[in-house]
Amino acid sequence: EGRHKVTIVGSGNWGTTIAKVIAENTKEHPDLFEENVQMWVYEEEITIPEASKLHDPSSEYSKEKHKLTTLINHFHENVKYLPNIALPHNIIANPSLQDSVKDSTILIFNLPHQFIDKLCDQMKGHVLSYARGVSCIKGVSVSSEDIKLFSESIGEKLEIYVGALSGANIANEVALEKFSETTVAYDPPPMDSRSATPKEGRTPQASELDLTQITEHKDSKGFKSRVRLTAQPSELPPLDHRLIHTLFHRPYFHVHVVSDVAGVSLGGALKNIVALAAGFVAGLGWGDNAKAAIMRIGLLEMRKFGKMFFENSVRTATFTEESAGVADLITSCSGGRNFRCAKMSVERKMSIAEVEKSELNGQMLQGVSTAQEVYGFLKARGKQNEFPLLTSTYRILQGEAKVEDLPALVAKPNEF
Ligand code: NAD
Ligand code: 13P
Repeated sequence: EGRHKVTIVGSGNWGTTIAKVIAENTKEHPDLFEENVQMWVYEEEITIPEASKLHDPSSEYSKEKHKLTTLINHFHENVKYLPNIALPHNIIANPSLQDSVKDSTILIFNLPHQFIDKLCDQMKGHVLSYARGVSCIKGVSVSSEDIKLFSESIGEKLEIYVGALSGANIANEVALEKFSETTVAYDPPPMDSRSATPKEGRTPQASELDLTQITEHKDSKGFKSRVRLTAQPSELPPLDHRLIHTLFHRPYFHVHVVSDVAGVSLGGALKNIVALAAGFVAGLGWGDNAKAAIMRIGLLEMRKFGKMFFENSVRTATFTEESAGVADLITSCSGGRNFRCAKMSVERKMSIAEVEKSELNGQMLQGVSTAQEVYGFLKARGKQNEFPLLTSTYRILQGEAKVEDLPALVAKPNEF
């Protein structure tokens, strides 16, 4: 059929919010998208939390435990991860990963970064060869040898092209339709349209054409390689910047589509570490000047990191001009979970993991693991001292440094 089918892989606080945004748009554009949006849910059995007020408390559902998918499909509310937000009825919660991605031409990856590798292994062989993806994951994929964007690691595993979405987007605010902006980066390698051209006089069905090509691809480090990619059939609306915009843009959620996948992805990943540091100093009661200093130093280290390790693809202006850069840093250091939990951990003299467990009801911080991963990557290259804020945040998390020492640790004295 000549319409895109969309699946959201993930259904946490942000995953469910993005499903809402997309489901509103697929309903408004039946010529471009199938109305129903699949949302893969990591299944769990829960009782409806007190916080959820959209349902009838006397109903049978309130008494016993139920599957989260059953509750979402019945109440059209994600009672655990996005309580009190009415979801469009065209979101279909699906506990089967393979079934949820079946026949989808657009896959949106939106879940805590630690789970995505394993899920890709389970999806392999079940996604359309010509599917395209957008990763909303804020984090980086780090191994001892390399650092990769999640858009790239997912793309390599599933043999599809994947872009990235990131911005100043506290999920609850977007879900309440309070105005925000976001950045979507989408830059697939050029496909040779000739291979989709019919050889005989008649017009063949897409299934008769071999749309798989070996195409030249420049990765985020600037290395050229040849990758196998399958063109989308010509009967589908072309998935270009305009269509990406139509899929994500709402009157309350303004989308800027760009091509800098590395800049957008790194902004989302690294700001989580800076938000922890901002939370630490706020926890000491040091005030707004201290937080602003952390944000300024953090932004410079984010930009330097991009330039040092992704110099051939990152556009440094992405950090200063896009929602995925400075704006996300500001919002995350104001009301983000990493900021709030780091602040509480200092105030209450508890570990961040304890605060996460007691305050977030199953939602997950990304900054702690990203700080560890990025530190490991920097240390393996002897570069840790060139990123004093990223490194000190890791050392504070490890109990090797004190928050009070941050000013001295990040100081960059004038050289007269
Ligand atoms: P979340 O913090 O709500 O995480 C919980 C999710 O993880 C739930 O859907 C849960 O079912 C799932 N989960 C738990 N165990 C799992 C397992 N073993 N396997 C697979 N899934 C499991 O998640 P979120 O807020 O939707 O975050 C997703 C991504 O979006 C993250 O990278 C985050 O940084 C980013 N993000 C979040 C926000 C926000 O405000 N929440 C905003 C922008 C971006
Ligand atoms: P937290 O994960 O710290 O809540 O950040 C949310 C976010 O990414 C806002 O843009």
